[in-house]
Amino acid sequence: IRLAVLYGGQSGEHEVSRRSADSILAGLDRDRYQVTEVLIGRDGGWHVDGRAVPLPLALRVLRTQDVVFPALHGPYGEDGTVASLLEWLGVPYVGNGVFASAAGMDKGVTKRLLAAEGLRVSPGVTLRPGEELSPADQRRLGLPVFVKPARAGSSLGVVRVTDWSRLPAALQQAREVDPKVLVEQGARGREIDVAVLQHPDGRVQAGPPLEIRVTGAGFFDYDAKYDGGAIFQIPAALDPATTEVFQDRAIRAFDALDCRGLLRVDFFLPTQGSAEPIVNEVNTFPGFTTASQFPQIWQRAGIGFATLLDILIAGALA
Ligand code: DAL
Ligand code: MG
Repeated sequence: IRLAVLYGGQSGEHEVSRRSADSILAGLDRDRYQVTEVLIGRDGGWHVDGRAVPLPLALRVLRTQDVVFPALHGPYGEDGTVASLLEWLGVPYVGNGVFASAAGMDKGVTKRLLAAEGLRVSPGVTLRPGEELSPADQRRLGLPVFVKPARAGSSLGVVRVTDWSRLPAALQQAREVDPKVLVEQGARGREIDVAVLQHPDGRVQAGPPLEIRVTGAGFFDYDAKYDGGAIFQIPAALDPATTEVFQDRAIRAFDALDCRGLLRVDFFLPTQGSAEPIVNEVNTFPGFTTASQFPQIWQRAGIGFATLLDILIAGALA
């Protein structure tokens, strides 16, 4: 099977994508797959097997594959733009299509679609350029709030605000990543991730919930994500009924966003009030190093890394 791994990209998660791709390239069974590496540089330049090439040549390489494995995170990669390119080329590809990728990249749009499905989300307000948070919305949301670029990942540009006087600076910081921002009520609770995997026969499975324990102060930010500032507990210590609720909500999110192949749904389990899990966000191409949540969850469920790749690739070819 001729397979291209497409990685890098122009988003702030370029480096994270390279790490995901390193694991994928190392994990692919080379007897089964004839692998081509296609790297998109930070500057948008294309490289095939280490050689800088003009875009038309890169597209020709992609078009002649049996399947493409996009391992991109963030805008211009995980947001449907690359899925759209691959649709145009008519080449099968692993994972989510144009709609799910675009909708899942935008935290405000995700929130509205999941709320319409009856899933619980934190109250939030989307602010477009020039818009400010109204006093009524300040009262409604309360402190703390999280200010997030609407379309980004790995917590880039995310600021926790505990004092309204800090809001303008937080908005400015988030707007450097995306002019469209989300101001969201800070959810308090245990942080639980659920991985959803679609098998080649179409069956959709949710894995054992994972609990994130941040070891330092603060939240699960970029440094905690990539510098070992967190511990993953799989399965999370939850009773069977609660585990089932998480898995049900994760699969409903997968369906609501019209996903394909895979999705990681990140939740909070509130420590006060209703125990209904709050969906924090989704990742249509979650971090994919062997140490990342998604592969770790499936490892725990008995699906090793190479098998996980086989399942995703077979799904793309089905
Ligand atoms: N956006 C990063 C890669 C993640 O959620 O895993
Ligand atoms: Mg995330």
